[in-house]
Amino acid sequence: MSTPPPHSAALRALQLPFTNGALQWPQHSALFLHAQPGWPWRGFSAEQPFKQAADELLREGRATQVRADGPPEAGAGDAPLVLLLPPRQRDELRALFARALDACSEGGMVVASVANDAGAKSAEADLRKLAGGLEGTLSKHHCRVFWARKDATRTDTALLAQWRSADAPRRIAAPQVAGGGFQSRPGVFAWDRIDPASALLAAQLPGNLRGHGADLGAGWGFLALEVLARNPNVQALDLYEADARALELARHNLAEAGSEAALEFHWHDVTTGLPRSYDFIVSNPPFHAHDAADRPELGQRFIGAASQALRKGGRLYLVANRHLPYEAALAAGFGQVRELAQRNGFKVIEAVRT
Ligand SMILES: C[S@@+](CC[C@H](N)C(=O)[O-])C[C@H]1O[C@@H](n2cnc3c(N)ncnc32)[C@H](O)[C@@H]1O
Repeated sequence: MSTPPPHSAALRALQLPFTNGALQWPQHSALFLHAQPGWPWRGFSAEQPFKQAADELLREGRATQVRADGPPEAGAGDAPLVLLLPPRQRDELRALFARALDACSEGGMVVASVANDAGAKSAEADLRKLAGGLEGTLSKHHCRVFWARKDATRTDTALLAQWRSADAPRRIAAPQVAGGGFQSRPGVFAWDRIDPASALLAAQLPGNLRGHGADLGAGWGFLALEVLARNPNVQALDLYEADARALELARHNLAEAGSEAALEFHWHDVTTGLPRSYDFIVSNPPFHAHDAADRPELGQRFIGAASQALRKGGRLYLVANRHLPYEAALAAGFGQVRELAQRNGFKVIEAVRT
């Protein structure tokens, strides 16, 4: 799980080959994959699966368009320059390199920037191998920036074909989930397993939830599936998730489960609040960002959004790492708060809006 921070060191490092003259910013048609807000040039097409960063890019107004992911014709190959801030997960990163090379025009440039502690060396080796060599590299701000020219005679086409589907959705076997498994893909939160905190929360869920509920930060849909499996009187459930890739998987997984409840899927930044009121809410909120540092304010804002959206008598079921300071936010938003379980470093909370 990650939320790209705006104006990160990798983004600053990525600007250097353009400011020192090693590379030219093209007049049009640059493509920026996993773009972050704060890029100073204009006139590029941005792809960013996380809603917060995508909204910020739109607000900045420097990108000509901002999309969650590539269009179906992504392999058209007409961008003279493709920038990317690769994700940490290796298969997702390799698929993004393949996508970058596909989208780049022959003779065009693919430029990436990766923090040293986020796998810069192996990412650089991957692009070198795929493109058949690098044109340049530099190190700055604890990051490596490296770029390759697209040259069909040097590209490793077998590797390209393999990496195109490196992060493709696939079935993960999981006896704990109704149906025996779920659809997932590398890069989304807990992509190939059931998160132990979510499993603990699921085990504490009551069986008498009813009405209209929400799952905040729904990931590939585990908690939502559990809510529906245990609560036949739930009439409607809205899933909110900032990562567009995860939300698509949740859509698939919930459809497969075949519940009669009405379902809605929102590509949404929960920290901005919720658009309607609810009878109950479940959440395993995010607690760290891209740099893996604790960000307790994220969970606190999820709690604030839940308390504002719950009707009187509405209940929040939340799981968190035991050390996270959520007590003040819970006390501010809810009349009754009690701990239902504490195990393996996690706590499960029930909070009632009175
Ligand atoms: C701890 S994970 C829980 C995922 C899922 N509920 C589960 O149990 O497997 C938190 C989820 O919140 C998402 N997320 C992070 N920031 C968010 C935000 N501002 N708004 C909505 N979702 C967010 C992450 O992408 C991640 O899928």
